[in-house]
Amino acid sequence: MSSFQTSPGMRDILPPESSRWRAFTQVFADVVEAAGYQQLIPPLLEDLGVFTRIGDATDVVTKEMYDFVDKGDRRVALRPEQTASVCRSFAQHRPVTPWKVFYSGPNFRYERPQRGRYRQFDQVGIEVLGVDDPMLDVEVIALAWEFYQQLGLQQVSLIVNSLGEPDDRSRYVEALRTHFAAAGDSLTEQSRTTLGKNPLRVLDSKREPDAPFIESAPQISDFYSDEAAAHFDAVQAGLRALDIPFTLEPKLVRGLDYYRRTIFEFQGGTLDSAQNALGGGGRYDGLVEALGGPATSGIGFALGVDRTLLACDDEGVFAAEPRDLDAFVVDVVGGIEAVKLTAELRQAGFAVDRGYDNRSMKAQMKLANRSNAAVALIIGEDEVANNAVVVKPMRGGDQQTIPRSELIEHLSGNLSQKTGTHD
Ligand code: HAM
Repeated sequence: MSSFQTSPGMRDILPPESSRWRAFTQVFADVVEAAGYQQLIPPLLEDLGVFTRIGDATDVVTKEMYDFVDKGDRRVALRPEQTASVCRSFAQHRPVTPWKVFYSGPNFRYERPQRGRYRQFDQVGIEVLGVDDPMLDVEVIALAWEFYQQLGLQQVSLIVNSLGEPDDRSRYVEALRTHFAAAGDSLTEQSRTTLGKNPLRVLDSKREPDAPFIESAPQISDFYSDEAAAHFDAVQAGLRALDIPFTLEPKLVRGLDYYRRTIFEFQGGTLDSAQNALGGGGRYDGLVEALGGPATSGIGFALGVDRTLLACDDEGVFAAEPRDLDAFVVDVVGGIEAVKLTAELRQAGFAVDRGYDNRSMKAQMKLANRSNAAVALIIGEDEVANNAVVVKPMRGGDQQTIPRSELIEHLSGNLSQKTGTHD
């Protein structure tokens, strides 16, 4: 065992899994770029104040933040998510609206590590600033849905709710406060503490003694203003028109405090309920303002890469596929010939690896085999003398000696038939 190991909740994403991660991000980028979203790359570290706006009643802010004082005496934190950073960026740069951005990358939360829950975890996501139209809510949800389809996931369910306009939400929160306060000590101690900070979050409790009080709690839909109800109706009508199946879940509140109006979550059917949230999002119409910008409506989502890939494993879709090599150069003589050949082929667009250290033919052929290359290119004494290369197909077929000057043409013809590339 080496003397150092990754810290709890942190992992190396090793090959070939790492290629799958890259492919995952690429599929996501392709889906959202085709809808007019452009990439924003915010820093991993921000002023702590950016993230405290996520809500002082959330675990993310109160318990899980990786915050510290830097050498310049600034109170900073590793980002626990990227929505707040996107809003900070908007407030700072004031781009023209609508501002449609996507992002991908790691986030940090000091959580108790378990399957699907890590302290460093990746998300992909989108955010749109400056649009109130419920048809945007539909677009945002539909893009996540499209992404799941592209991955091949079938067991994803979408749940949606609306928290109403800020006033509706405040009246609802007061009604919940009264309702849960009446339960007194029958509520769990944790829920009584949560009640003091944010009664909405009591609805999130999965603790058994809280269940009957959550069941009998007032419903948010009874508090919607006409405007909020119309907005939410339009969102649902849009989802139906696009044939996106969803379930209304009036008790969905989500774990972050900045949400207003539409909220949604995607759940994976194969995962345990503690970490079955594959992703989620919603509107956060006051967040830019809270970060010093103009009043701006906002909506977006973030999808957890780790959990989504676990769901892919469970469903047997979106497998890891490292790039196959075209050729593996077996250098039996040692020297500059193999260096030149390898460089020339790479420049011509072939994917090529090679053997080193003048190892035996047998050892290098073993490497060639393991590399999954289509052909081995063997350079021995005779080949150097005759200015030729032996081309040995690795998946059946006779080996041939090809003059060096004709090699690229030969490989182009032969490999294109086998791999469909290099036409
Ligand atoms: P969130 O629900 O906190 O929302 O995170 C979104 C997704 O990130 C979760 O559904 C989950 O898949 C993944 N995730 C969260 N924490 C962990 C963890 N410790 N380990 C592994 N995966 C995790 C947000 O972050 C909001 N910024 C979403 C949003 C965007 N709302 C509006 N725009």
